[in-house]
Amino acid sequence: MRIVVGVGGGIAAYKAAELVRALGQRGHDVQVVMTRAAQEFIQPLTFASLTGRKVITGLFSQNSSQDALASAVEHIAVAKENDLLVVAPATADLLAKFASGLADDFLSTLYLAFTGHVVLSPAMNTAMWEHPATQTNLETLRKRGCSIIDPEEGWLACGVTGAGRLPDPIRIADHVETLTRAKSDFSGEIVIVTAGPTQEALDPVRYISNRSSGKMGYAIAAAAARRGAHVILVSGPVQLPAPPRVQLISVKTALEMRNAVFHHLEEATIIIKSAAVADYYVANIPEQKRKKTATRLSLELDPTPDILAELGDKKGDRLLIGFAAETENLMEEARRKMHAKKCDMLVANLVNAHGLGFESDRNEVEILSRSGQTVHAGPADKNEIAERILDEVAMLRLNLRAVDATA
Ligand code: PMT
Repeated sequence: MRIVVGVGGGIAAYKAAELVRALGQRGHDVQVVMTRAAQEFIQPLTFASLTGRKVITGLFSQNSSQDALASAVEHIAVAKENDLLVVAPATADLLAKFASGLADDFLSTLYLAFTGHVVLSPAMNTAMWEHPATQTNLETLRKRGCSIIDPEEGWLACGVTGAGRLPDPIRIADHVETLTRAKSDFSGEIVIVTAGPTQEALDPVRYISNRSSGKMGYAIAAAAARRGAHVILVSGPVQLPAPPRVQLISVKTALEMRNAVFHHLEEATIIIKSAAVADYYVANIPEQKRKKTATRLSLELDPTPDILAELGDKKGDRLLIGFAAETENLMEEARRKMHAKKCDMLVANLVNAHGLGFESDRNEVEILSRSGQTVHAGPADKNEIAERILDEVAMLRLNLRAVDATA
């Protein structure tokens, strides 16, 4: 795979040499881009020796005007030629530039022109890492689908002990490897992913909904697309941009979600139902806003279509992966739902744990399959959980094909 390693200007820049070496040893074709500050910490020659290629150190060539013209569009060529952009160390400054779209050097300009997957490995002083500005920038970048490798805790060069240390370069290389190894194992698959909440109207201005942010489903959609699938993402109302190379269908209600899923069922090979679909709706929505009165209001609610159960009946030989969001008796409820709704696999999460499940960037799940096997994943970033879920789906598909072949 062709990988650009962007090196930011932090004390951990020296570790980027180890990362570049590890990626090269694993057979990747690596192009290094250094910021001006990075060159204060480590010489371009180190990276040139490790990669056998010229290191890109600025937007404009210092040589002839002809060279300068060629280098003015070099960031576009580098963006087109490479499959993955890994930035290590990603400094607070780089995260801020990427998040706000500032393009005043080669690396930040490349980031804007790059349409492939981006992996950021931040490293900085603990106070800078914990600063709300840095955390907000990270949140923005996560929402755009960047993979973030959290820094480790430990002794930092600035003399304090805390979070902010660049992880072992081998760990970063392993993460990159997971992304690249898996790159095409879903090619040829057409995957429907449902995500987010649904909104069920009470009147023209009010609705019933839930706390789903869509982050889990969007992470699955983005990962499946990265791994080569054609992804149809049927999403309730969320505040997230569509992941790259994903066909987004926006819906509001459970009924609209059901209709969108069944409209595409024929072409699908895998369906992953991570949406938090409302269980009830108001059948008779008044045309006008309900007036407030001093007395108690009773609402009559009817059950929404159970999309997962209907899919279980009509899925044919497609793989059906359900979710279960529980606040107690996780495994019992998960097993019950998996069998009742005829799922091939079910991802169960406890949604009352602090910092996990609904809204959060992280999750912890049990992945159950009909064979009785259960795999635990997390607590981890939802992008990582998404990869683990897809690993299990790929494994299940392999096992089913092996059974078919021997039948
Ligand atoms: O969106 P995030 O903030 O990232 O949060 C992620 C999540 C917590 C929403 C996600 O991890 C999750 O658990 N999704 C399933 C939520 C849910 O509705 O669970 P449930 O146990 O109520 O439903 C079981 C399954 O039936 C789900 O696959 C659901 O999509 C499906 N269902 C439910 C009701 C309905 N009418 N139709 C359905 O298809």
